[in-house]
Amino acid sequence: MEKFLFGVATSAIQIEGAHDKDGKGWSIWDEYSKKGLIHEKQTCFDACDSYNRLEEDLAIIKELGVNSYRFSISWPRILPTGHGEVNQKGIDYYNKLIDGLLKMGITPFVTLFHWDLPIELDKKGGFSNREIVDRFEEYAKVVAENFGDRVEYFSVFNEIAAIVDFLYIEPVGHGYPPKSDQEGFEAIHNILLCNAAATYALRKYSKNKVKVGMVSCSSIAIPVDGDLELAKEVMLAPDSVFYTGNTTYWDPMVFGKYNEEWLEKFKFDLSCIKDGDMEFIKCVPDFIGMNIYLGAKYERGENGKPKPVPHGINFNSPDSYLDTYESMYYGPKVMQERYHLPIYVTETGIDTLDCVNQEGEIIDEVRVEYIRRFFPQLLRAKNEGVDIRGYFVWSLFDNFEWSTGYSRRFGLVRVDFETFKRTKKKSFYVYKKLIKENKEI
Ligand code: BGC
Repeated sequence: MEKFLFGVATSAIQIEGAHDKDGKGWSIWDEYSKKGLIHEKQTCFDACDSYNRLEEDLAIIKELGVNSYRFSISWPRILPTGHGEVNQKGIDYYNKLIDGLLKMGITPFVTLFHWDLPIELDKKGGFSNREIVDRFEEYAKVVAENFGDRVEYFSVFNEIAAIVDFLYIEPVGHGYPPKSDQEGFEAIHNILLCNAAATYALRKYSKNKVKVGMVSCSSIAIPVDGDLELAKEVMLAPDSVFYTGNTTYWDPMVFGKYNEEWLEKFKFDLSCIKDGDMEFIKCVPDFIGMNIYLGAKYERGENGKPKPVPHGINFNSPDSYLDTYESMYYGPKVMQERYHLPIYVTETGIDTLDCVNQEGEIIDEVRVEYIRRFFPQLLRAKNEGVDIRGYFVWSLFDNFEWSTGYSRRFGLVRVDFETFKRTKKKSFYVYKKLIKENKEI
């Protein structure tokens, strides 16, 4: 039996900083930062300065007591223009990180693409341009050849739906004009081709016998009366927005077909699908990565159809968010029934307004309560036979939260963004204790 992974997650652009150090190329987020498109004109340029504080950060990870660390590789740090010449200093940095983790007995869980597209490729149309598939395959090959001898777990994309959203549908900071649903569909098709190309490359060029998965941001339905069929109906149907459904990405990757109901509903022109594409896309990932933050409650309406349950007057208080803790049960349960693949909860967490008290301690009770309510639901699903193999809290640090800059704090560890001082919050110690108490699961 594989050991259960208790981990903590981060991503490159959100913590590394050192945006132009040691030959790193620019990503779209460096560009958005330069153009002043981030909240209050903040930038990702320094983030948590983790690139320059590797030893200190490794020690924090060790103290937390996790047995796995999920992080992403910055594509432009190792291939500054997205392809061609490899930046050895970038490779050296990730080698130090991976070796440091392995030395402490911590399993690296590596994401290839957590949204920091090299700017050179973005200029050529990014995922709208099918040529990106070759570039992405080349990137995956470089990753496999350099790290595939020591890394066992790779996930290719983090949250395709979010990528489609901020690049094509609601472009971050109005950097680009929004695209039509049809153009969004074509980007999805190209991303799925990239996912397959990278999956095959990682399996082929890694020395290790690797496990390659994909991570999606899960829309989860919680049936208030416990009716699993209702949860399935909602979660497996095409969502009201065309790019957010669970089956949109997983059906093609696992079954080699787009969800018919979805194609019918949005009436896409399918001419971008070339002969052989669907067989290629069907790479059958080795695991499903689920980012679970919250869920939406449903009941059956009078016509027998699922009907959303209103949030009530307390909506927007932390309670309404915490109250969706059963998403950690229904989400994995439904995904397992449809796809029969092992599941890793690759992110789960909450942003809170942490209070630093006069003693300098950070008592983040809402985050503590969030972990206390959500985690037992994972055990509930696992005890019922759902093959859940890991749980990663988002995030290790307060960090660069995309277009909202540093205004939202998700960390178990507070970061002062002027001095980069790290301070462990109460939730850090609570999670540490939870890991100890659940060693045998
Ligand atoms: C993303 C993270 C992000 C988190 C909180 C997830 O969707 O993968 O990068 O920081 O949500 O918003």
